[in-house]
Amino acid sequence: MVKIFVITYSTYNHINQVAESIVEGLQKADVEVGRYQVAETLSEEILTKMHAAPKPDLPIIKAQDLVEADGFLFGFPTRYGTTPAQVKAFFDSTGQLWQKQALAGKPVGFFFSTASQHGGQEVTVFTTLPILAHHGMIYVPFGYANAHLFDNSEVIGGSPWGAGTIAGGDGSRQPSEKELAIARDQGENFAKVAIKLAAN
Ligand SMILES: Cc1cc2nc3c(=O)[nH]c(=O)nc-3n(C[C@H](O)[C@H](O)[C@H](O)COP(=O)(O)O)c2cc1C
Repeated sequence: MVKIFVITYSTYNHINQVAESIVEGLQKADVEVGRYQVAETLSEEILTKMHAAPKPDLPIIKAQDLVEADGFLFGFPTRYGTTPAQVKAFFDSTGQLWQKQALAGKPVGFFFSTASQHGGQEVTVFTTLPILAHHGMIYVPFGYANAHLFDNSEVIGGSPWGAGTIAGGDGSRQPSEKELAIARDQGENFAKVAIKLAAN
């Protein structure tokens, strides 16, 4: 069975909530799902000062684990419109896989969160793409596969680049039903692409 890993980094738990809907969507298709988190790089002292949420009870992803999966959905909050250092540090540990091009041809999707509506959702993915290019991995965008992406009646995170949520400056906004519906569709669509690729 095609195996998809959902790998997240989250400080305030928004991304973990979106990940649950991503997993629900994946499970609508016939794939096996693995759920992991990226290792934290900040000290407990800094995390306490940031009022970070407790980490979820998930295994920490190791570079070598990636070889087992047929595709990956990475979820993370923006950091100044780009990849969080924690996620970058994880990819920086994949050099041996890169040398062998062990991940080449595997599909990757992204979902993300920002504090504000225009805080950099799309550019967070865009600036992560060079990592995929160098690994030879295939970026799978979401497109406009959910009608909520055309809805301007309320603030809705997400874009053709993937599902997204908007946490608010103080983190008090929680993922909305529409954002979670987009995430479910992204999971399901991504699974279908991964199944097709794995069949070749
Ligand atoms: C160092 C740092 C940089 C950030 N940069 C941005 C930013 O550029 N734009 C933005 O909208 N939010 C920014 N944020 C807010 C986070 O994206 C927000 O806390 C996150 O999306 C919440 O997701 P989480 O609960 O999964 O951690 C930043 C937060 C931190 C700690």
